[in-house]
Amino acid sequence: MRKRFHILTFGCQMNANDSAWLARALTDRGHVPSSREEADVHILNTCSVRAKPEDKVYTELGRISLLAQKSPERKILACVGGCVAQQCGERLFARSRELRLLFGTDGLAAAPEAIDLLLSDPQRKITLLDFNETFAEQGHKLKAAATGPAALVSIMRGCDNFCAYCIVPLVRGRQKSRGSEDILAECRALIAGGAREITLLGQNVNSFGQDSLGDGSSFSTLLYRVAELPGLARLRFMTSHPKDMAPALVQAFAQIPLLAPRLHLPLQSGSDRVLRAMGRGYTRAEYIALVCALRQARPDIHISTDIIVGFPGENEQDFEDTLDAMQEADFCASFSFVYSDRPGTKAATMPDKIPPALALERLSRLQVWQNHNSARILEAMRGQSAHVLLEGPSLKNPASSWSGREAHDFAVNLYIPPAHGATTGDMLKVRITGSGKPTLKGELAE
Ligand code: 5AD
Ligand code: SF4
Repeated sequence: MRKRFHILTFGCQMNANDSAWLARALTDRGHVPSSREEADVHILNTCSVRAKPEDKVYTELGRISLLAQKSPERKILACVGGCVAQQCGERLFARSRELRLLFGTDGLAAAPEAIDLLLSDPQRKITLLDFNETFAEQGHKLKAAATGPAALVSIMRGCDNFCAYCIVPLVRGRQKSRGSEDILAECRALIAGGAREITLLGQNVNSFGQDSLGDGSSFSTLLYRVAELPGLARLRFMTSHPKDMAPALVQAFAQIPLLAPRLHLPLQSGSDRVLRAMGRGYTRAEYIALVCALRQARPDIHISTDIIVGFPGENEQDFEDTLDAMQEADFCASFSFVYSDRPGTKAATMPDKIPPALALERLSRLQVWQNHNSARILEAMRGQSAHVLLEGPSLKNPASSWSGREAHDFAVNLYIPPAHGATTGDMLKVRITGSGKPTLKGELAE
């Protein structure tokens, strides 16, 4: 039964990748992506790492019910996946008549088949919320791996770290690595489908392979193997935990030319006291030493980070330590968040919660510094040459205006004369001519 489907994604990059996989899998089964208004199958893929997406899910389920009431003949099916499904469980079914599938992050691989079952049996409801013992294999089973020039590949799920503030191990379960061969098969399929750049994704890629499902391969071994795949032009990975960043991985930045000179390395706080309370397993000095080693291995590397402000007990000195550390690390970008309690975490029970107004004031001080530093780093790129992976013609002027990304992952807009015959997926040598905010401008280099 061919149906139109629409996926709405709330949350992180892992989630966006899960949604992209689900879209490919549903397309493989003959369904077609459509707008929200026209869809018969609505999938809400959620993440609760930073915010409370439950409310958004309820609003969206309400909207879907309205659509269903307007055209009862369409037999609309709603599905909720990801963290919210995992956290709220079957009580979500009471929220909407159309809602008949719940899948957790481990249930994703079985979701396409479940959707087909539900379409053929309107009385049925399915719950896929168990944490699997095995990593649900996904990629290589797909027929079509049609993709854009930059593709994402999940290499593991879950996390064993239990940082005091973090809900990930509670909703995504313990760490489970995929087998290297399956990862390589998915990468090959994506490259055959047009990908030139691959980002390997995991909550903590540095400990890849070091769990009960690991196949003995370390993350750096995997990285070298992916880098050797014919047709690949650029490789990235995220996210790294500073405490698990092996020297071999630092060296990979010196030895693998197509590994992009950009690393996301969450610091969270620059105060040793707060880092200890968070259970992060490194000190500020250790973090900075790691940054220095990375810059030695790859002098042009750009490092970005995640910071939490207003962690319970954070005082002015702790916050200033964070600002100092950020300056020392010279971050090109930071994703900064005000601490919020997540249910079931250790930090939720800690005393000395920071008043929201104070936390917001710290957040804006931090962001002022970061905006300034990011603008300085962008400006310093003017006049430099760069390799830009073309992601597509711009919407405004598709004949000659293109957008792409350079190695540090900055977006670049550039004019290319139509006679050049450029196509999406080309890697072009470009001279950076200006820095808008937040994109760079460039022109073809001779
Ligand atoms: N409060 C605020 N930020 C959080 N993050 C994770 N949990 C919380 C929380 N409870 C942030 C961290 C992490 C990023 C993905 O989200 O900075 O690196
Ligand atoms: Fe959460 Fe810490 Fe695991 Fe990252 S390393 S997912 S912050 S528990």
